[in-house]
Amino acid sequence: MTKPLPIIIDTDPGQDDAVAILLALASPELEVLGITAVAGNVPLALTEINARRICELAGRPDIRVFAGAARPILRPLKTAEHVHGQTGLDGPVWPEPKMPLQKQHAVDFIVDTLMTHEAGIITLCVLGPMTNIALALIREPKIASRIKRIVAMGGGYFEGGNITPAAEFNIYVDPHAARVVFEAGIPITLVPLDCTHQALSTAARIEKFRGIKNKSGPAIAAMLSFSERFDEQKYGTDGAPLHDPCVMAWLLKPELFQSRDVNVGIECESELTMGATVVDWWRVTKRKPNTTVCRSINAQGFFDLLTGRIAGLP
Ligand code: BDR
Ligand code: CA
Repeated sequence: MTKPLPIIIDTDPGQDDAVAILLALASPELEVLGITAVAGNVPLALTEINARRICELAGRPDIRVFAGAARPILRPLKTAEHVHGQTGLDGPVWPEPKMPLQKQHAVDFIVDTLMTHEAGIITLCVLGPMTNIALALIREPKIASRIKRIVAMGGGYFEGGNITPAAEFNIYVDPHAARVVFEAGIPITLVPLDCTHQALSTAARIEKFRGIKNKSGPAIAAMLSFSERFDEQKYGTDGAPLHDPCVMAWLLKPELFQSRDVNVGIECESELTMGATVVDWWRVTKRKPNTTVCRSINAQGFFDLLTGRIAGLP
């Protein structure tokens, strides 16, 4: 068997982040070196607790969880309790986690891990605002050339935004961090709304999770039944987009996605379009491609992968 791909998961759980973390922990192709929490869907004090809750749900209290930035670089924190509930993980009843939070700051963990491992082997899976990653790049610019790839959920182009007409939540919350990351010369794969809006957790798909005979399947069903209510009303669809697990799916089965290598710039000036991902899809500028942008996903293939893997958890 080939060696598993070492990854760091940077995240703001969030129910869809939770499913993404579970998918990573259920996949032998991926080795989770650590999970770094950031403020986003809910404040940092909750996202780091949620990250630990999910590790324990998966039977992996050995995974190290680190707390990172409590707010975006420049702008005030905007959270999304209206989608995710007051805890960020509303749905199931969660016990308080027993596993400890690591003492080291998430940004230091990211820097140290990249500097002490062989260059070019570690992938960063970024599921929330990019604050921790930007701060790590500012703290130690040498990490840029040591990152194998960043695979991030964020942005939207053809679909527009989900928090403003122009911007997707993760990029909108910390557009300045996103600009630092997109301008760092690191290979990036972006899974935007254009893709995740096709990955709908329909009632039938949620029932599949509920029928899995372990702890994680029914917990996922309870989480998604809660978080999809807002999106179902907003979009008028059966089921809500299941955003963040698409990042892990791209690593596990890239053939599920259609993409193009193009330039992506981040809008940080105009309040009207703040946090927009300006994707040069038609290559109308001479700006160098800096991102593999996913345009669509084989949704059924994605859910088959996901339910199959989750069924393997204890
Ligand atoms: C993104 O924002 C958050 O609400 C989700 O967890 C996902 O990462 C979707 O716009
Ligand atoms: Ca997220």
